[in-house]
Amino acid sequence: MAVLAIDAGTTGVTALVVTPDGRVAARGYAEFPQHFPSPGQVEHVPEEIWQATLRACRDALDAAAAAGVDPVVCVGITNQRETAVLWDRKRLRSPRPAIVWQDRRTTAICDRLKEAGHEPRVAELTGLRLDPYFTGTKLTWLTEHDTRTWDGVRDGSLAIGTVDSYLIARLTGGQVHATDASNASRTLLYDIGAGAWSDELCELLGVPRGALPEVVPSFGEIGRTDPEEFLGLDVPISGIAGDQQAALFGQACYSPGDSKCTYGTGSFLLINTGSDLVRSDAGLLTTVAWQDPDGSLTYALEGAIFVTGAAVQWLRDGLGIISSASETTAVAGTVPDSGGVVFVPALTGLGAPHWDPDARGTIVGITRGTTRAHLVRATLEAITYEVRDVIEVMTAAAGLEVPVLTVDGGAAANDLLCQLQSTELGVPVQRPEILETTGLGAAFLAGLGAGVWSTREELARTWRLDRRFEPGPRDDAGYARWLEAVRRARGWATA
Ligand code: G3P
Repeated sequence: MAVLAIDAGTTGVTALVVTPDGRVAARGYAEFPQHFPSPGQVEHVPEEIWQATLRACRDALDAAAAAGVDPVVCVGITNQRETAVLWDRKRLRSPRPAIVWQDRRTTAICDRLKEAGHEPRVAELTGLRLDPYFTGTKLTWLTEHDTRTWDGVRDGSLAIGTVDSYLIARLTGGQVHATDASNASRTLLYDIGAGAWSDELCELLGVPRGALPEVVPSFGEIGRTDPEEFLGLDVPISGIAGDQQAALFGQACYSPGDSKCTYGTGSFLLINTGSDLVRSDAGLLTTVAWQDPDGSLTYALEGAIFVTGAAVQWLRDGLGIISSASETTAVAGTVPDSGGVVFVPALTGLGAPHWDPDARGTIVGITRGTTRAHLVRATLEAITYEVRDVIEVMTAAAGLEVPVLTVDGGAAANDLLCQLQSTELGVPVQRPEILETTGLGAAFLAGLGAGVWSTREELARTWRLDRRFEPGPRDDAGYARWLEAVRRARGWATA
């Protein structure tokens, strides 16, 4: 018995085949193109996400078969959240590109709604805020700027969803239009207290409720894959969660107070708050962590940082000063510090805790002596400062403790980053053996839903420590310089 997990992230799709001992027995990965039609806009072509999904899954399944792993008995899905996707219910084709979570085009719509005084009520219902990050205003934008597509939504021929719903539609040959509560809670359309779509918010944002997917629990069978559409496989889809909530599950953070920080395109720190809806007006989000089959909701408090790994990707693809992300350790290690350079990677505005869609990337402190090594080191430092910003708010404003930071995601493999992070926070950083915890969490959910595992305790026992980093002496002047640089980055898009 093995579980196939599909992790459809922002820049690529990872497929994992996970065995009952919680081991990743095989994997596949496929990148898909990013489209930037104009400054501040980010789009994906849904068909390209689907093709990457097929490639990644085929590679993982082939590798599993070659290694003699038992057949896959269920599928779990986890995904980049908030991204708005539309598709034709019959042909499953998309009439237009998806608007990605990083896209800032709805800043004016958010401002308009704020000026009209809607933010407190939106925050009360959703636990979120009026920021272009979330799905809802992306849909409002379509009602105003792509009326032809929106006519299809109104007449019922087009379905709306996030990437999980789109993949479920493709995997089931259009039989199922569903999402889970963790993904729904990122749309601005879902009432997290009631655990249902909100008619009030649908009306405010101009979204017909009938075009939205059915909200189902995060585990338990929701449909079967169609072998004609999906690599000959006919198995239940039995786990779904947004990628950050899936990582919380994959890190076995099952008790209130448990937390994790995932370093991906962005970095996302989540604390399990159990059945309590803990609210913060200091820049954190209240969100659904997962929903059990009995309907009960587990909540989390989240610090969503938009650009961390994406800044390293920009050093590679935008500036061309490194050839791979893994090179950052060696390059940054050639200098003792960033030489006074501070990089605020607000490449798609700033998320938690600053929330400024008009902030833009800013580099200060460059001198004749500055080298690429200083800039690479400043990028790693920026990631650690961004995480500190969130933790400062979590502890000071929300009164929560993070005595140890448990990390995962691709960049957590970087020893220098983990060491700098521990020093910056003044607490130990612990890293598990498996860093692909988003995919692992989707596998855990699906396996729990299909009976591969029966309890969370069983899953927690598979967690293994790889390495623990202890804090060194901290330079608070560096953090003060960071805060000043953030102040300068703010509002730049409208300066
Ligand atoms: O909210 C956005 C988040 O889901 C994206 O995750 O892993 O693609 O950085 P990732």
